[in-house]
This record gives sequence, C-alpha cells and structure tokens, in this order.
Amino acid sequence: MRKKIIAGNWKMNKTPSETVTLIDELKPLVATDEADVVFCVPAVSLTTAIEAAKGSNIQIGAQNMYYEESGAYTGEVAPGMLTDIGVKYVIVGHSERREYFAETDVTVNKKVLKAFEHGITPIICCGESLTQREQGVTIDFIRQQIKIAFLNVTPEQAKTAVIAYEPIWAIGTGKVATAGQAQEVCKAIRDCIAEIYGDAAAVAIRIQYGGSVTADSAAELFSQPDIDGGLVGGASLKPDFGRIVNYK
Ligand code: PGA
Repeated sequence: MRKKIIAGNWKMNKTPSETVTLIDELKPLVATDEADVVFCVPAVSLTTAIEAAKGSNIQIGAQNMYYEESGAYTGEVAPGMLTDIGVKYVIVGHSERREYFAETDVTVNKKVLKAFEHGITPIICCGESLTQREQGVTIDFIRQQIKIAFLNVTPEQAKTAVIAYEPIWAIGTGKVATAGQAQEVCKAIRDCIAEIYGDAAAVAIRIQYGGSVTADSAAELFSQPDIDGGLVGGASLKPDFGRIVNYK
C-alpha cells in the first residue's frame, strides 16, 4: 500500500516569523503516522521552518530550485543549498511557475534530474488549462508533460517521485475537480508511468491531486484508488489543513 502524502504549498505567503507561529499552531493538528506531511514554504523561510518543525512529523520542502550546482545565476537557489539545510522535497513545474516564470517541460526535466541527483524528492506538477479540458485533450497533454518530465529518470528514481495533478482551472478558484475527474487523470498518469517503467514503478509512485482542496472535499478525493494525497494551497495556511491531513 502506498503511504499518502499531503503537502501544503504556502506559495508566496508568510514571513519567517509568521512561519514559526503557523507551524506551532499546525503541529498538533497534523500529527499522524498514516501520511507523510510536507510544508513547502518560501525559500527565505526554509531554515526557520526546519527549526520550527523539529521533533514533529512535518517535513519541509522548497517550492522551486535551479538545475545548476552553483554560479552566475542571480536570484536562484541551488540543490546543494537545500540539502545542506535539510530540505527533503521540492515542488517542480508548478503551473504558476510555468505561467509567470517561463518554466517549460524541458526545464522541469532538468530540475527533476538534479533533485534526484541530490537525493531531494521532486513533487512534479502537471495539469491542463480549461481550454484544453474543453477541447478534450487533457490526457494527451498530461501524458506529454509526464513523458518529458521523466526523460532520463531511472526506474528506481521514478518509484520515489511524487506527481501532483493540478488542473489549472481548479487552482485557487474554489472550483475543485470532481473525484471522478481527478481519479480519471491520476489513473492515466499511473498508466503512463507503467508504459515507461513497468508495473513496479507505477504501483510505487505517489500521485497527488491539487486544486482548491478543502477539508470538505479531501476525503472523497483522497479515497480514490489512484489518488495518494494532495498538494494544497490556500487551505494549507489554516487550521483546516489538520482536517485535510486527517481526512478519514
Ligand atoms: P489551491 O492551490 O489549493 O489554493 O487551489 C493548490 C496549488 O496550487 O498547489
């Protein structure tokens, strides 16, 4: 059985001092052995968050990372900087980064390979726009995103990856995908991984749903056979996140 993984994507919210307050508040609410719990906080708060989460089940992830080791890349954060402070996960290819910061499938692939090289688990985001859904090309589009993101990733690495299926039209809109829609795409993603790597990797890899997940929608979404948890934005900044983690 795959262990669920429920991650909060704080996006560009909370200062380092507010981070301490929120982690202290959420710590008892998200305590569980049944799921992996990850808080992906802004880069400037990573060290503070790791300190604040010590002794709890919360693991800290970054929201982005560059694919070079070091050098003249003003403003970027290198993978070795993340591992040096104890970061375990990194979100790669979030649709906001694709839309506002020119992230492409190719740069996503480079970041995924670099994350694995450094022992950081990538949370690889994919998801279609409303137009793509309406035109009936959702599955084709997602398969392309996945195939490029996983180029040159080994089967052993693929087993440990996390994929977040986040339909763009559902992010921050309050318009959550139905459990049926989310399950259909998450299953297609698992089938795509099976085609590339075989059944063992497909059975092991964890696939999250993300997009307007709330305490009310989590249980039905996370009980779908191919949905192994969620990537949660807005609701991860509130006590509601405790109810999402303990959705059963
Ligand atoms: P949301 O964000 O839960 O606020 O829709 C999800 C995400 O972008 O990861």
